[in-house]
Amino acid sequence: MQHPGLRLAILIIAGLSLAKAVEVEVHGKDNKTCIYAVLSVNFTVHYEGNGTMENTTFWLPNSLSSNGSICGGNNSAPLLKMDFGTGHSLSLNFTHSAGEFSGDVLIFTYNVSDAELFPGAKNKSVKHVAVNSLMEPAPLNTIYTCRSVKAIESEAVVMVFWNVSIQAFVENGTIGKNESFCKADMPTTVAPITTITTPTVTPIPTKPPPELPEVGNYTVKNGSDPCLLANMGLQLNITYTENKTHLVNIDSNSTASGHCGDNDATLVLEDMDTTIQFHFTVDQSKFFLKEVKVNISLVINGSTTAFNSNNSNLKFWQAFVGSSYMCHKEQSIVVTEQLVINTFNIWVQPFEVKNGTFSRAEYCKTNEKYIVPIAVGAALGAIILIVLVIYIIGRRQNHSDGYEQF
Ligand SMILES: *[C@@H]1O[C@H](CO)[C@@H](O)[C@H](O)[C@H]1NC(C)=O
Ligand SMILES: *[C@@H]1O[C@H](CO)[C@@H](O)[C@H](O)[C@H]1NC(C)=O
Ligand SMILES: *[C@@H]1O[C@H](CO)[C@@H](O)[C@H](O)[C@H]1NC(C)=O
Ligand SMILES: *[C@@H]1O[C@H](CO)[C@@H](O)[C@H](O)[C@H]1NC(C)=O
Ligand SMILES: *[C@@H]1O[C@H](CO)[C@@H](O)[C@H](O)[C@H]1NC(C)=O
Ligand SMILES: *[C@@H]1O[C@H](CO)[C@@H](O)[C@H](O)[C@H]1NC(C)=O
Ligand SMILES: *[C@@H]1O[C@H](CO)[C@@H](O)[C@H](O)[C@H]1NC(C)=O
Ligand SMILES: *[C@@H]1O[C@H](CO)[C@@H](O)[C@H](O)[C@H]1NC(C)=O
Ligand SMILES: *[C@@H]1O[C@H](CO)[C@@H](O)[C@H](O)[C@H]1NC(C)=O
Ligand SMILES: *[C@@H]1O[C@H](CO)[C@@H](O)[C@H](O)[C@H]1NC(C)=O
Ligand SMILES: *[C@@H]1O[C@H](CO)[C@@H](O)[C@H](O)[C@H]1NC(C)=O
Ligand SMILES: *[C@@H]1O[C@H](CO)[C@@H](O)[C@H](O)[C@H]1NC(C)=O
Repeated sequence: MQHPGLRLAILIIAGLSLAKAVEVEVHGKDNKTCIYAVLSVNFTVHYEGNGTMENTTFWLPNSLSSNGSICGGNNSAPLLKMDFGTGHSLSLNFTHSAGEFSGDVLIFTYNVSDAELFPGAKNKSVKHVAVNSLMEPAPLNTIYTCRSVKAIESEAVVMVFWNVSIQAFVENGTIGKNESFCKADMPTTVAPITTITTPTVTPIPTKPPPELPEVGNYTVKNGSDPCLLANMGLQLNITYTENKTHLVNIDSNSTASGHCGDNDATLVLEDMDTTIQFHFTVDQSKFFLKEVKVNISLVINGSTTAFNSNNSNLKFWQAFVGSSYMCHKEQSIVVTEQLVINTFNIWVQPFEVKNGTFSRAEYCKTNEKYIVPIAVGAALGAIILIVLVIYIIGRRQNHSDGYEQF
């Protein structure tokens, strides 16, 4: 089974790592990383002992060998195989389709004749359990990440996974910079661990730092069917005179209304003193936020002042129609010089909402730049097209299993 010339390395998480995290990198012929994984696993196995049923628990150890792994190629799927102890192994092979990769079959093999882990076992045999539910599909060139605890039970075995990060089909040996979070790690109204970085410059000490807005879940319906979904926390930063700003957190109970079209959609959020309108549009099968209108009444120095701000030349929250856009980190949308909207934990889908739930999410880039010169954009488009054509041709040529995905 071993790929000729395949060189493999086992990396051990250094130093103080408190959890039993195991890090594995599989290298191809050219020494480039093709599979990368970090994971913590414990196994509980029920087995027949000397007259009684016993169960034993052990962890996936750091000292394992990934020699049996395969980078994969034209006719073989990538395989991550981790051999440990006396004849035990955990393996996972991968598939990809439509720009996403996922784990296919997870196989845990255990050798009951290992007297250390299975003391007093009666049937000294090698057993396997196979399941195919470890990971959800993730976009290629991202790291699938699942910090949440996931227990998989099959036959006499319970496998508990946590702090899992996996990437297969690593391109150029460069591990992706972006993470795709599993459903269990999706944000709730409480800010997740990774998001907001505390500013290094402390604000004016007399004022407490402003509270973060609560995440509201807003829905626009077409009849009784949800057609636009937006979960986000919103904060308005209003500059009312030079150097004087006022922060307003939008109530997560604001009422949502709006309309849904094929190429245009609006979301209107209203509470007592504030109306915010978001206008989404579609261009070349991608949607984005094009326009924002804000009307707000503020009491400043005892008198009520109305602020109206509008910008129809925006390009935020871009993703393919049919998917949703997600960003855990704070973003700032400059509407006018007077008004900036800070957004938190945004998850939005203005088009093609199916069954009232979000579709697969596209994540914000770590350093999103919204203005890409047209020439660069066109060049990138051409490269993507060429790669796609090569990919399709590749697929056609290796079309051996009678399964067509386009
Ligand atoms: C791969 O790694 C081995 C050992 O680390 C080294 O001897 C060899 O030159 C490397 N090959 C390439 C193509 O980098
Ligand atoms: C296995 O790991 C999970 C998650 O850390 C933990 O809750 C559970 O207690 C562990 N099982 C055993 C038998 O230690
Ligand atoms: C099995 O249990 C019996 C009685 O408890 C004991 O006499 C025997 O030595 C045990 N055998 C092993 C292999 O532990
Ligand atoms: C371990 O075995 C005991 C009895 O031998 C049983 O009560 C318990 O549920 C088992 N635990 C697991 C995780 O299977
Ligand atoms: C894995 O392969 C390397 C070199 O190919 C070898 O030195 C090492 O002993 C192997 N490890 C195991 C556990 O087979
Ligand atoms: C995969 O297929 C391409 C073209 O069909 C060929 O050039 C390449 O050598 C193949 N790679 C492997 C690993 O067989
Ligand atoms: C993954 O491994 C399983 C079991 O060996 C096999 O049935 C399945 O076809 C493999 N998947 C791929 C994509 O090769
Ligand atoms: C892979 O390498 C090519 C050529 O060096 C580069 O254009 C491309 O962006 C790289 N892909 C990734 C995911 O780094
Ligand atoms: C908002 O949506 C998120 C994700 O779908 C969910 O976890 C959360 O419970 C919802 N909050 C409310 C108040 O419904
Ligand atoms: C609000 O805007 C002012 C002026 O642009 C800026 O200095 C300040 O950091 C902003 N505050 C927040 C919380 O975004
Ligand atoms: C939002 O509405 C819920 C239920 O009606 C209420 O418990 C909660 O206090 C409200 N939140 C705010 C910020 O008004
Ligand atoms: C829609 O949701 C319902 C209930 O949540 C579920 O039973 C049904 O299978 C879903 N349909 C689709 C197409 O996902």
